[in-house]
Amino acid sequence: MRIGVIGAAGKIGQMRVATILAEPRTELAAVMDMTLEKAKAHAHGAPAFTDLDAFLVTPMDAVVISTPAHVREPLCLAAFAAGLHVLSEKPLHHTVAGSRRILAAAKAAKRHLGAGFNMRYYPAFSYIRDVMESGKIGEIDHIRIYGGHEGLPKFAFDWEYKSEISGGGALWDVGIHMSDMARFLMGEITEVYGVATEKVWKVKGSEDNAMAIFKAPSGVSATYQATWTDWKGYKSAVEVYGSHGMVRGAYAPMENMLITMAEPGGPTTVTRNRYRGIQIREKLRSWKTTALASFQQELAEFIALTEGRQGLRIADGHAALRAVEIAAAVPESTRTGQPVMLENLGAMVL
Ligand SMILES: NC(=O)c1ccc[n+]([C@@H]2O[C@H](COP(=O)([O-])OP(=O)(O)OC[C@H]3O[C@@H](n4cnc5c(N)ncnc54)[C@H](O)[C@@H]3O)[C@@H](O)[C@H]2O)c1
Repeated sequence: MRIGVIGAAGKIGQMRVATILAEPRTELAAVMDMTLEKAKAHAHGAPAFTDLDAFLVTPMDAVVISTPAHVREPLCLAAFAAGLHVLSEKPLHHTVAGSRRILAAAKAAKRHLGAGFNMRYYPAFSYIRDVMESGKIGEIDHIRIYGGHEGLPKFAFDWEYKSEISGGGALWDVGIHMSDMARFLMGEITEVYGVATEKVWKVKGSEDNAMAIFKAPSGVSATYQATWTDWKGYKSAVEVYGSHGMVRGAYAPMENMLITMAEPGGPTTVTRNRYRGIQIREKLRSWKTTALASFQQELAEFIALTEGRQGLRIADGHAALRAVEIAAAVPESTRTGQPVMLENLGAMVL
């Protein structure tokens, strides 16, 4: 598969290029960025462009779009019009309306849209999904899900916390990975009720805290929190409670805990995994090694998605849209004091 990368010189774009180069079934067809100098510096011998039309003339099958969200719509629309599949970084767009237009363009062109919710592939979180599917913790009742860090000092660029570029605050940053994770684990989310606040960083339109309840037609509900005021530092955590136990996964550090019992309230078996290998690797060679491993798995599943394979774990276009809708729904619920009802999208079918 020949893949082009837009935003190839960026922090994440460089990692996306590295995964394409490392995957035997893919070839880096072309790169594009804002200046030719930047594009060429990350082209690894592939043709480099700043002009979208010239970039799209290059023969290729798909593009990875790793720009900030506010410029993504024309890039996605042109890629679909050129008959390409798209793997987009998260969030798909900084608005719900723009995300819907991108999704509509994918469907009209009958091309696949994948979304960069790579935390689905972090071993601690994919383990949770495996446990849920295995039935080990019985009937699932509810999920607790959390993502947070210290907020503004964490960011390399100011666009990352400005709503007119990124969409909003904690809900759109670490929080969007976790709302996608909730949907990945509990099925479609059709009801969102919550509170978002801007008391600490006071960036208009960028909530520094959000708490919500998600409900799914599956009968499973979730409590959710996204924060930019976790002074303890970066952490994502998920706990799933069932009739016969619970499973917890967290990052960073990567860790799992599984508690199972034959009967509710009976003697428990506790299993822990602290992923020593990953912890040592991250200490020696940075957290990026974990992100890269997840991008590698995501790329392999993106190839499978474009081949029409079913039962994949990659986030599809509906997952991309629902994550943006949830990020918009929590502030809306805050304004109205009412839950926001969302239609059941299910999986994206072309
Ligand atoms: N999946 C993850 O875990 C993860 C982590 C961090 C960031 N992200 C997302 O990845 C995206 C990129 O973030 P980043 O941190 O790499 O940002 P970045 O600023 O480092 O990189 C963005 C790149 O896009 C280029 N660019 C901007 N507009 C462009 C345009 N119109 N055409 C071509 N190139 C353009 C910039 O020049 C830059 O090189 C964002 O959507 C961000 O939210 C995802």
